[in-house]
Formats: sequence, C-alpha cells, structure tokens
Amino acid sequence: MTTASAPYVEMMRMLHAPLITQALVVAAELGIADLLTGGPRTVESLAAEVEVDADGLYRVLRALAGSGVFCEVSARTFGSTPLADTLRAGGEHSLRNWARLWGLPERHAAIGDLLHSVRTGQPSFEHLHGLSWWAQLATRPDQAAVFDAAMGDLARRLHAATVDAYDLSGVGRLLDIGGGRGHLVAALLRRYPHLRAAVFDQPEVVRHAWKVLAGAGVADRGEVISGDFFTSVPAGADAYLMSMILHDWNDAQVVGILTNTRQAMGEHSELLVVDAIVPPGNTAHDGKLRDLIMLTLHPGRERTEAEFAALFARAGLRLRETREVAASTGLLVAVRAS
Ligand SMILES: C[S@@+](CC[C@H](N)C(=O)[O-])C[C@H]1O[C@@H](n2cnc3c(N)ncnc32)[C@H](O)[C@@H]1O
Repeated sequence: MTTASAPYVEMMRMLHAPLITQALVVAAELGIADLLTGGPRTVESLAAEVEVDADGLYRVLRALAGSGVFCEVSARTFGSTPLADTLRAGGEHSLRNWARLWGLPERHAAIGDLLHSVRTGQPSFEHLHGLSWWAQLATRPDQAAVFDAAMGDLARRLHAATVDAYDLSGVGRLLDIGGGRGHLVAALLRRYPHLRAAVFDQPEVVRHAWKVLAGAGVADRGEVISGDFFTSVPAGADAYLMSMILHDWNDAQVVGILTNTRQAMGEHSELLVVDAIVPPGNTAHDGKLRDLIMLTLHPGRERTEAEFAALFARAGLRLRETREVAASTGLLVAVRAS
C-alpha cells in the first residue's frame, strides 16, 4: 500500500483551513475563551451557559484543540491556551472581533465567490449583494459594529505598533484619515501625552469615536470630524495618517484621496501610510492573502512599494521612506513633492 505523499497531506491541510476559521468564529461568537478564564470546564457546563448543543460544541472545541486553540485536559473538559486567550474580549491582544468578522454571512459569501472576481475583475460582494461593502455596512448597524470592532482589534496592536516605527514626539496635531471609531488615535494619544489628534471618517462611523476616546481617557486631546475623503480632507495637521485605507480603493480613487490630502497638507506636513507592502517574488506575506479580501470585497488591492511610490507621484507627493515593521504591515512616509 502506498502512503500519501507529503504534498498530498499538505494540500489536504490547506484545503481544510476554512473549517478552522469557521470553528474560530463559533468560539469567538460564543465567548468560550472568556468562560475559561477561571480554569478548565466541561463541555456540558459551557454548552449550558451559552445555550448551545453540547455535542456540537464538543466537536468544535475538539477540532480547535487539534490546532492548539483550547486544550482537552481530560475527557470532554477544555482549558485555555495562549492561542485561545487571543479570543478573549477586550484584552490588548484580543482578536475576538476580528474572528467574529469572518462569520458575517454576506462577507463570507463574497470571499467564497473569489472565482467571480477573478473572471470579471469586479468585487464579488457587489455582484452577490447588489451594493458595495461600505453601502452594506451603512444599512446594517449590527455588521458595522462588528467590522469597526474588528478594525479596533488590529488598530490597537498591529497598526499602533506600525506607527511606533515613527517618532511622533515632534508632531503637534495629527489627523487620522478613515480613522474608524478612533482606536488608533486613542492608542497614539495615550503614548504621546503632548499630542492632539483628530479622527476623520464617515458620519455614521465616526460618531462612535468619542466613546472610544473617552474610554481611553484621552478625549480632552481628541477631536472627531465627519466627512468624505473623496470630497476633501481637513487641513491644519502636522501629520496625516492613513491606516488600511488605500488598499480599499483602485488606483484612480487612491490618487483622488491622496490629492485631497496633499491639498490639506502644509509645506512641512508628513503623510504616514500604514498598509501591507507586498514583497516581490515567492516570499510568503499576509498582505498577499489579504489582497484576496480586497479583490472580492473592494475595488482595491494590496500594493508593492513601487506601486505606492507611483501613486504618490501622481498626487504630487514624494515617498520619503519606507519602514517594513511587522511581517504583514509596513509604514510609508510621504511629503509634498513641491
Ligand atoms: C479598513 S477600515 C480602516 C480603519 C482604521 N484606519 C484602522 O486602521 O483600523 C477603512 C475605513 O475607511 C472609512 N471610509 C470609507 N470610505 C470613506 C470615505 N469616503 N470617507 C472617509 N472615510 C471612509 C471606513 O468607514 C473605515 O473606517
């Protein structure tokens, strides 16, 4: 009898990865990691508390334990692990909301219809649901809350760590363009006691930002501005920040956003762009995977450093430096070309 070759086994593992994602969605949605902070519990007691079927929950936790998320410490009794701890609500390292995002049915369906986007070059999201991702969120406050909280999970840790690569101690006022509910601004205001910073985003998103700034104890140095970056960007900041914005849009739209930003920038203002910077060749990079989200949900794409530099130039900006700080996320600093 022949045994399965290593590539065959590895391909099986890759094909089954979406099942892990969906099991993580269930664990995050039910808040299982939070229920294990006091120590291991039987699946029956967990299932009773969250009112689900004990057998179904057991099979999900058993599957996840095989990947190091939760641990079956004795028959049908599960404890937490460092991986499971990232699914706890609220902590600094929490990815619970990011996990919940993968359970939104319309988003899930669009990513599942990747082939449509490859065939047509158009977002499968609009093809399936008849409206853009942002228009959909505007009609679904429940999903918008999950999305904004998911971005908060990334902003507090990953995006804030990326901005850490840049010393903001010489910056008096910062404007976070597309700053969501203000999680990144809150993190920066806490880190830099001299800084004043504004969150700029769509009205229905940014109206939640005061709560985040107040919760972080920095509302006195914060500002909240609603608007549309395709129309204009507020002037008067020393540093303009865009975290995970440009990747949502096509080249012409990016040039529009950057042109509006350039018009707002003073002679000495700087633009800090946090985005994936896709490396050339076969190097594994999370941005190359996240690019498939852009392909299915948005008109945008993840870009190489050269692609960013070319778009900056089209908007009258000059890429001054690039800092690739995390495996998946980099920082580009641009200034006015003239
Ligand atoms: C991927 S999220 C990034 C959020 C945040 N910057 C972060 O890094 O977590 C993109 C943001 O762009 C905002 N946005 C989309 N269209 C916009 C527009 N026309 N004007 C202003 N903000 C917009 C969305 O509301 C959302 O908060």
